[in-house]
Amino acid sequence: MAKVLILGGTTEARALGESLAKRGGMEVMLSLAGRTAAPVKHAVPVRVGGFGGSGGLADYLLREKVDAFIDATHPYASVISRNAAAAARRVVIPLVVLRRPPWIAIAGDRWTEVSDVSEAVRALGETSRRVFVTIGRNGLAAFSQAPQHHYLIRSVDPVDPPLPLPHVAYLTARGPFSEDEDRALMAAREIEIVIAKNSGGPAAYGKIAAARSLGIGVLMLRRPAAPEATTVATVEDAIAWLDHTLTSTAARGV
Ligand SMILES: NC(=O)c1ccc[n+]([C@@H]2O[C@H](COP(=O)([O-])OP(=O)(O)OC[C@H]3O[C@@H](n4cnc5c(N)ncnc54)[C@H](OP(=O)(O)O)[C@@H]3O)[C@@H](O)[C@H]2O)c1
Repeated sequence: MAKVLILGGTTEARALGESLAKRGGMEVMLSLAGRTAAPVKHAVPVRVGGFGGSGGLADYLLREKVDAFIDATHPYASVISRNAAAAARRVVIPLVVLRRPPWIAIAGDRWTEVSDVSEAVRALGETSRRVFVTIGRNGLAAFSQAPQHHYLIRSVDPVDPPLPLPHVAYLTARGPFSEDEDRALMAAREIEIVIAKNSGGPAAYGKIAAARSLGIGVLMLRRPAAPEATTVATVEDAIAWLDHTLTSTAARGV
């Protein structure tokens, strides 16, 4: 039976695992970094924790006799994606990247693209503003440089330790978040600007649509460079790639 590894941590990875489990005929393992305290349940077996860089991942692929693997990690998880591409090249195991296309600004959106959190903090300016921070709980240290603002920070797991800031509120919640829900939240908290990643997909789009309808600006963190590997945008295309790859591998008798 063909062995398949999914690098996960996203809705797409979970959906892919569900589809493959339903079809059967493959041995699937899904890998999580172990960042979230209570990850959502998966339909396929899960392993948790880093591999030890691209070398460790290459060793894992050989040791577990993986026939093909899918990088279905988040678009901003650039280290694991780089490692996956390097490991695939090194041990010559087929890899596809499953990545949601980014959101595209439409009429009414007021986005300013920034390269990183430090640039976002500088773009907030000197005058105190009410800021909705939706970039997860990592990489928040730069906000300590701008204590004049009032922050609302939403993340799946608590920010621990809390940031050394005088005006900060935390909200632990797991998406999806609807536009209505996020508009109500942003209006109630008198939010003036949103800081977001361009995650793509519907689950996190609520705040973007809400910002548009409230006429609020978004500081959008630019996506990291895409990994150098075949890339697909949907679970269906990832499965088609997998079927094609495993069939041609079997035909070659590899
Ligand atoms: N970054 C985000 O905004 C974001 C948002 C939602 C979900 N996630 C998910 O959270 C996880 C961590 O994201 P990150 O941005 O911290 O990653 P990252 O910076 O790209 O990766 C850091 C290290 O974490 C380990 N790692 C990451 N993903 C892994 C996986 N699926 N399985 C096993 N090890 C993994 C690897 O350790 P070793 O080098 O030891 O192998 C990697 O070098 C990812 O799986 C991602 O899909 C990230």
